[in-house]
Amino acid sequence: MHKKEIEQTLVLIKPDALKNSLTGYVLSQLSEFHTGLRFAGAKIVHVSRMLAEEHYAEHRGKVFYPSLIEYIMGLLHYPDAPERRRVIALVYQGQDAVKKMRDICGPTNPHVAREKKPGCIRALGTVVPLKDAEGNDIGERMDNLIHASAANDEAEREIKLWFRPGDFSPFMRSYITEVNKEDHYYFREGRLYIKHEPGSVCLIAPGDVVWKSDFDTLRSLKQGLPAASSLAAVAAKYLINYTAEN
Ligand code: CDP
Ligand code: MG
Repeated sequence: MHKKEIEQTLVLIKPDALKNSLTGYVLSQLSEFHTGLRFAGAKIVHVSRMLAEEHYAEHRGKVFYPSLIEYIMGLLHYPDAPERRRVIALVYQGQDAVKKMRDICGPTNPHVAREKKPGCIRALGTVVPLKDAEGNDIGERMDNLIHASAANDEAEREIKLWFRPGDFSPFMRSYITEVNKEDHYYFREGRLYIKHEPGSVCLIAPGDVVWKSDFDTLRSLKQGLPAASSLAAVAAKYLINYTAEN
């Protein structure tokens, strides 16, 4: 962050909140009146598998991970209605934005939230048992209505994963940007190209304003060098709402 006074955090209103018509309630709990924080960015996202997997990369390999991915993609709450599979992605900013949002969300587990912090948003969530193919209990999934970044470095990674600089007013960009003065960058099936290939998508064109860290990653990958983040972590954002394919 290069402007200390505008700490930002990512909030996701998850598919169970939409399904249970709790969106308005959640938004009013997060209002400036209650939190002292302001909107910096907002979008309605049909979550692709690539975006879901990048967002929850730290949980890869855990027993609840496959179910968590299906949950955030809206597959569990809207199995027969792809058009209703949405997450509302929001960026809030202000002093202590990360901590304030985590406090109002409450503990991860809705049972714990009800016991320790009645009144917090996650106290309205549910816990769903997870079973293996034979029907044995293997763990739990926590449908807790809302995500909020847990720390400042997590907020930066997550905001850059879900939002481009152009999604923010120029006064509300917290991270360093750069104007692409070089190549076009195209993406297809997990690979980067600097020339258009049939079926590829243009991620960045000359003149586009991009997060400097994304640009550094693309430049390194172009030269075959190790990069700070994966190509998928950069590309997922540019493919948000691009196709209905999951
Ligand atoms: O969201 P938060 O940072 O509080 O928790 P996390 O440990 O980073 O887990 C991310 C999300 O995975 C949670 O919000 C839950 O929806 C889900 N989760 C789960 O389903 N079962 C668990 N045992 C832990 C987390
Ligand atoms: Mg977390």
